[in-house]
Parts: sequence; structure tokens; C-alpha cells
Amino acid sequence: MDCYYQSDTKEKIGYGFDGTFPVLSIVDPELMLTVPPDFTAFQGMDAFFHSVEGYLAKVNQPSSDAYALMAVELIAKNLPAAVKDGNNLEARTAVAWANTAAGMVESLSSCISHHSLEHAASAFHPDLPHGAGLTALSVSYFSFMAERCPERFPALAKAMGEDIDQLPTLKEKAMAFITALKKLIAGAGQKDLHLSQFGISKEEAPALAKNAMETMGGLFTVDPYELSYDDVVSIYEGCF
Ligand SMILES: [Fe+2]
Repeated sequence: MDCYYQSDTKEKIGYGFDGTFPVLSIVDPELMLTVPPDFTAFQGMDAFFHSVEGYLAKVNQPSSDAYALMAVELIAKNLPAAVKDGNNLEARTAVAWANTAAGMVESLSSCISHHSLEHAASAFHPDLPHGAGLTALSVSYFSFMAERCPERFPALAKAMGEDIDQLPTLKEKAMAFITALKKLIAGAGQKDLHLSQFGISKEEAPALAKNAMETMGGLFTVDPYELSYDDVVSIYEGCF
């Protein structure tokens, strides 16, 4: 997915699918060795969320599920190493392939409203990198979703290495994904990342929610749980 940004109206809108597919892609991890640690983390987390969201979307299908679970596993295993040592070609290669697979997930399934919430945040605050915004929103967003529609979260937690079999309830297995997500964020060096670092305040939550639902409303239609405006405001507020 690419995006279109209009600064005066604060619209940052994703677009993609067949018309924007490249004729040829060169995915060469050797060209990525000099990407700085933070941007390695932001890009890797973006790919991670493309996979997670495509797995959770109502339009998921067996082929997108297969790519999504593989990409989630590869990123959880390798992104921290790629962030820690940018010259780790093995880790870079794993993340590059996972990112490519995550793109297929986006096309075969879809991102969900987590991406709408991020686009609104970076439309109002263009200095906020996309992957940083997703990461800063993610614990609040996915905790909200996992509590209300837990069914697909245990497989994601398992792909990230969590031992969910010993957990007695579906809810606990689902929340194991949040535990794994926090570990991945910390492993990628983003434990202290916060929306306030980019000038975003809790008071903006209503305006951001309105923007997310008006400009990127399509992704809300494939959410596994139908979010109300008040839900979206509370997810933003949950980040503070
Ligand atoms: Fe993205």
C-alpha cells in the first residue's frame, strides 16, 4: 500500500492493489545494511502489522494466513537482531522476505483500522514516521481488539514463540499476543517510544478519531470487531 497526503486538509490516505503493483521489485538485503536502527525498527514493525492486521481482517483467507503467520514468526525472531546489528545479513534477509510476504498479505487480505488510526496521527503530525506511529498505537489498539474478539490472536502469539498451550482460557491465550508484542517492541529498541515525543497530546484524540474514520473509513469495514467513534477515541486515549 502506498499513500496520498494532502497537508492543508490533513488527509493521508492509503491506496494500492492491482494498479500500483510494480513490474519488477528488487529486494536485496545487502542494500539495507546501512539503514539506521530506528528506521530498521519502524519498517520492520510496519511489515509486522501488515501481517497481523491481514491475519485479523474479516477478509482473511488461507493463503494470506500462511504468509501472515510466517512473516510474524520471522519478524519476531529476527527484527531485534537486525536492529541491534545492522550488518547482520541473515537477520536482514529474514526481515526483507517477511516484509515482502507481508505485502502479499496486504494484497490477499487487508490492513485494518490500526492503519487508519496511524494515518490520522501522521497526517496531523507529519514528522511521525509511519512505523513509529503504528508501534506507539499498537498496545492500546490490539489490547482493545483482543479483549473483544480473541479468536484469531492465539495463533499470532504462538507464531511469536509464546507458550500458549499451558494457558487455560481463550482470553489468556489471546492476551499472550500483547505480551509478545511488548517483547518485540522492546527487542526492537522502541520500549520508550511514545506519541507525545512527536507533539501529539491526549486532547487530540477526538479530532484524530474523526479523521481516521472519515479519511480511511474503508479499513474499519474489515475489522474483526466493529469500532464506534467512542471506541476509537478511547484507543487513542489509551496510548497516554
Ligand atoms: Fe503500513
